[in-house]
Amino acid sequence: MSQKINGVKGMNDLLPGEIEVWQFVESTARTLFGRFGYGEVRTPVVEDTALFVRSVGEETDIVGKEMYTFEDKGGRSLSLRPEGTAPAARAYIEHSVNNQEPVSRWFYMGPMFRYERMKTGRYRQFSQIGAEAYGAKEPAQDAELMDVVVQFLEALGLTDVTLNINSLGDDNCRPAYHAKLVEYLNAHREELCADCQQRLERNPLRVLDCKNEKCQAVAGAGPNVLEFLCEPCRAHFTDLQRKLGVLGIRYVVNHRLVRGLDYYTRTVFEFIASHPALGTASTVGGGGRYDKMMKGLGGPDVPAVGFAMGLDRLVLLLKEGGKTFTQRPDLFIAVADEGSQDQGLALASRLRREGLKVDFDTRGGSLKSQMKRADKSGARFTLVLGEQERQSGQAKLKPMAGGEPIPVALDAVAATVRAQPEAPAPVPAV
Ligand code: HAM
Repeated sequence: MSQKINGVKGMNDLLPGEIEVWQFVESTARTLFGRFGYGEVRTPVVEDTALFVRSVGEETDIVGKEMYTFEDKGGRSLSLRPEGTAPAARAYIEHSVNNQEPVSRWFYMGPMFRYERMKTGRYRQFSQIGAEAYGAKEPAQDAELMDVVVQFLEALGLTDVTLNINSLGDDNCRPAYHAKLVEYLNAHREELCADCQQRLERNPLRVLDCKNEKCQAVAGAGPNVLEFLCEPCRAHFTDLQRKLGVLGIRYVVNHRLVRGLDYYTRTVFEFIASHPALGTASTVGGGGRYDKMMKGLGGPDVPAVGFAMGLDRLVLLLKEGGKTFTQRPDLFIAVADEGSQDQGLALASRLRREGLKVDFDTRGGSLKSQMKRADKSGARFTLVLGEQERQSGQAKLKPMAGGEPIPVALDAVAATVRAQPEAPAPVPAV
């Protein structure tokens, strides 16, 4: 017997029945981001490895440990994208978008890849919905972007989420903070994990987002980045908070928030859900400003700010809500005899063309078994087609939730179904 081949660990299949909640999140994002003027961008899932090394940073867990990197047949080092910000920036630069318009607003959704230790809400292929705004350095842009997320979460019905904000300063003020941080971490060197002892030499900020509990405790008691901000960075952060107030957005200032990517300057933020379903993977989204990235990638000096939401985590939260997202059929067509099978097939086809969602069992079978399947399908109505219905052109719509059958002419089924008020979905048979 041939051996069964399973999917790759940490990469999930999404089947009908489960996909509907994903489609709900995606279509809500499309509608909402469109309202804010964000246009969709699609970039390849594979990029030059150097793109991530130079933007996300060599010392980050993402680039240092988690990237799926391989050599193609031409000997180039390529990586499956671990995130969407650097690819979007690469596309922005490559297409000289800054020469076409001063401000661009883009969003994207799709799979990202990180070789992570798996648990609930943390996968090796996961999906992000992200948005990036290019060309505006003002705090109003940061605030508007957070408003996108707030309204997106509201539209999904996810309200139990807290916005954390922080500022990481810029090239001007961060060195002083770095120096203080290194001094502090050196004094606690023995308490840090082996990785962090190395990070301390090469990129001390990364110690702050180490997942090791001991390191987190040390980092938590360290110097406060906000006390080191230079005047322009402080003004930016103060104005951002005022703007969030104007928008009525609630937030918490969290000076320990550093994010796991190197490209941020000034504003960083995360949306954290309090639902136990996510366990430690409670960050449903995060982002920040990255005013230096474009230049660092050989592009123009264009400021930018963005975020990405973890679609898998949003879906986990929505599933906890117990709402159903599957659209049930309007009608199930059953045939009373084999001679009506072709007409049943044709009627189903015509009604679908007229816009109804119709279920029809292509296997035929006894009327009893078809009625069982009609029950299970959750259809609003069942129509039985037999010799008599075909002769008379008249049939009956049986409401599956109970009630009197509704007489209907076979050429007026769509209109009649549409005219019936929606009843609650019957409980499908198990
Ligand atoms: P990130 O914080 O690395 O940021 O990822 C954003 C979100 O993606 C996380 O908050 C989380 O919900 C989700 N996520 C990350 N890793 C996984 C995983 N292994 N499994 C499931 N979900 C995951 C970024 O990627 C930045 N590009 C965000 C950004 C956009 N900054 C500026 N613009």
